[in-house]
Amino acid sequence: MMNAFVKKDRKYGGSYEKIPIPEPSDGEVLIKIKSTAICGTDIHIYAWNAWAQANIKKVPLIMGHEFVGEVVETGPGCRLLKVNDVVSGETHIPCGQCYQCRNGTPHICFNLELPGVHRNGSFAEYMTYPEACLVKLPPSIPVEYGALMEPLGVGVSAVENAQVSGGNVVVIGSGPIGLGIISTAQAMGAGTITALDISEYRLGLASKCGACYTINPSKTDPAAFIGEKTRKVGADVIFDASGNPAAIAGAFKYLRKGGSVHLLGLPSAPTSIDLAPDVIFKEATIHGYHGRKMFQTWTRMIALLESKKIDLDPMISHRMPLSEAERAFEMLEKGEDASKILLVPGD
Ligand SMILES: NC(=O)c1ccc[n+]([C@@H]2O[C@H](COP(=O)([O-])OP(=O)(O)OC[C@H]3O[C@@H](n4cnc5c(N)ncnc54)[C@H](O)[C@@H]3O)[C@@H](O)[C@H]2O)c1
Ligand SMILES: [Zn+2]
Ligand SMILES: [Zn+2]
Repeated sequence: MMNAFVKKDRKYGGSYEKIPIPEPSDGEVLIKIKSTAICGTDIHIYAWNAWAQANIKKVPLIMGHEFVGEVVETGPGCRLLKVNDVVSGETHIPCGQCYQCRNGTPHICFNLELPGVHRNGSFAEYMTYPEACLVKLPPSIPVEYGALMEPLGVGVSAVENAQVSGGNVVVIGSGPIGLGIISTAQAMGAGTITALDISEYRLGLASKCGACYTINPSKTDPAAFIGEKTRKVGADVIFDASGNPAAIAGAFKYLRKGGSVHLLGLPSAPTSIDLAPDVIFKEATIHGYHGRKMFQTWTRMIALLESKKIDLDPMISHRMPLSEAERAFEMLEKGEDASKILLVPGD
């Protein structure tokens, strides 16, 4: 038997339960989870909001999808991994059959399956997972960083595509996703990086990750600030990691002509953009991102982490036993000072 944090019923909350250790089926390995991080998606599922009610088909469900662990058993047909390998998980499990999968974009497969959403996740002592979606980590990377590579990768994928080298970059939202963007933009040679957030605590983390300027849009007008810093030219590259519709629409006002906007944050409502002045006459490029390129982004991340060009320590605010998951959710729901909370199974 093992301990796991489970969504038992179709209602608010989660519970710490004893359940049987799963067995790996064809192509799967059994992983002993070393560390697992809480993400916004888990908060939606915990809170049982409208998104969770529509998307969670099966309960009871072990929550969690950001993890690092050690392979303790290989199931039938496994060829890539061995017992004792330390692995991080790519959470987009593609079908391998659809148009997207067969045309080089499995990370946006039509039939994506996600742990902690569609199948049992990582808030547990053990988890089974397809070996094809695991990435073996070299010993030079701190093990707990493996639990943060999934969220880091969203930013790495975006920053690599955005070509930030030498540019004036703005990152809206300095949560874990925004911090990953800031660190990566700095590692990939951005000129200036301006971080925005309405939380002073998170702006402090943005500075630690390499932001040159931090602004709180509830106190300082971002358009006036960026205009002054860029001699009225505007920002070359803007990333949104807030999901705030007004902040996204506002970003186009301080984007320079010919610049690009990269959208990662998930607005909960439709967002309106003034297309003629803000996109068409600006010749602006808008790009959306879902997850990480499989597995180019992971190759980049390993290089960035091994070479210590990215330091994930500022992103980790707490390490707590898995048995205290409820307290961790309470902190995040109340908006207490926190960034990534790592849950560690096994008391
Ligand atoms: N595209 C993807 O594949 C993908 C993957 C993971 C997360 N996400 C999304 O990315 C976003 C960021 O994720 P996170 O884990 O960092 O979430 P988070 O909620 O911890 O961070 C969002 C940050 O935005 C800040 N913010 C809110 N309104 C703002 C405003 N008007 N201006 C500036 N900052 C503002 C908040 O204070 C917060 O610090 C979320 O919307 C999440 O759902 C997308
Ligand atoms: Zn996540
Ligand atoms: Zn597919």
